[in-house]
Amino acid sequence: MSKKIITLTRHIIEEQRKFPEATGKFTDLMNDIAFAAKLISYHTNKAGLMDILGETAETNVQGEVVKKLDAFANETMINALDHGGHTCVMACEEEEDIIPIPDQYPLGKYVVLFDPLDGSSNIDANVSVGTIFSIYTRVTPDGRPGTVEDCLQPGVKQVCAGYVIYGSSTMLVYTTGNGHGVHGFTLDPSYGEFILSHPNIQIPKKAKIYSVNESNFDFWDQSIKNYVHYIKQIDKATGRPMNSRYIGSMVSDVHRNLLYGGIFLYPASSKAPQGKLRLIYEANPMAFIVEAAGGKASDGKNRILDIKPEKLHQRVPLFIGSEEDVTMVEEFIAGKRTK
Ligand code: AHG
Ligand code: MN
Ligand code: MN
Repeated sequence: MSKKIITLTRHIIEEQRKFPEATGKFTDLMNDIAFAAKLISYHTNKAGLMDILGETAETNVQGEVVKKLDAFANETMINALDHGGHTCVMACEEEEDIIPIPDQYPLGKYVVLFDPLDGSSNIDANVSVGTIFSIYTRVTPDGRPGTVEDCLQPGVKQVCAGYVIYGSSTMLVYTTGNGHGVHGFTLDPSYGEFILSHPNIQIPKKAKIYSVNESNFDFWDQSIKNYVHYIKQIDKATGRPMNSRYIGSMVSDVHRNLLYGGIFLYPASSKAPQGKLRLIYEANPMAFIVEAAGGKASDGKNRILDIKPEKLHQRVPLFIGSEEDVTMVEEFIAGKRTK
C-alpha cells in the first residue's frame, strides 16, 4: 500500500474534528491562507523574470501596473481573507490602520494579523522570504465590524500562528498552540498541495547557532555586547564557539534555528531604542510557534506573549529560540552575569 499522504487541509480537518463545537470556519480560513501562500509563492519564484518577460517597473504585458512584491503579497492576503465570512477585521505591516471587511461580505469571529512579505529587501538577491500570520478570536461583540481592540490582544491569546517560507521549496508551518504541536508542510509543485513533511517540530533546548545583525554592535547596551562576546568564545562542553548564521529575513533565520537549535536576537539599540521588529506581526506569531515547539521568546525581560500591545505598529526587542539560550541572554540583560 502506498504511503499515507497528509495534506494541509486533511490535517486541519482532523484537528478540527477534536472540537465537536467547531463550525469549520477555521478550516475555511486556513484554506484561504494556503491559497494566498500558493499565489505569493508562484510570484516570488518568478521575481527575477520581471525584466526578461517584458515587464517594466510600471506595467506588465497585460498592461497591469507591476506591483512591488510586498504590495502584491499584501493584496493577495487581503483578497483571500476578506470574503469568506470567517474574519471580522485584519491588520498588517503594510497598512497604517486596521483593514475592515467590505460591507458586502459577512463577518466572522476571527481576527487575522500578518506580515505579507518578511525579509523583502532580500528578494532581488534570490534570498528566502516569508509570510507570517497570526489568528485571534474577536473580543468585541459579534455581528459588528472588528476594531483595533480585537487586534491589540496579547500574543498568548492567539488561536493559531504560522508562517510560509518561500525558499528552495515553499513550506507552511503552523501551530494552534502549546500541546498541539508545530507542523510543517511542503508545497508539492506538481500537485499544488501542501503535504505534511515535518510533523511535530521540536526545537533543541540548546542552541548551536546565533543569528544577529552584528553591524549594530556599537549601538548595543553593554549587556548585549557581553552576551555576544561570550557566545563567540570556545564552549568547554562542545569545544567550539556558537556558529553564526544571519540571513536578515526573520522567517528564514527562525525557521532554520527551529530545526537545528539556535537563538535569533534583534535587541534594542541606541539607533532603535524600541527594537526593530513588530510585536503583533512578527514577534508574537513567531513566539507562539517557537514556544509550541518547546522554545522561548522574550523581550529580554518579559515573555513576548504576555505583552499587551498598545498600538498596531509597536516594535519590540526580540530574543527567540532555544530555551536555555534565551534564558541565558535574559541573565546577561538582568546583570546576573557578564561572562
Ligand atoms: P520586513 O521585510 O517585513 O520589513 O522585515 C525585515 C525584518 C526581518 O525580517 C529581519 O530579520 C530584519 O528586518 C532584518 O533587519 P536588519 O537588516 O536590520 O538586520
Ligand atoms: Mn517583517
Ligand atoms: Mn514585511
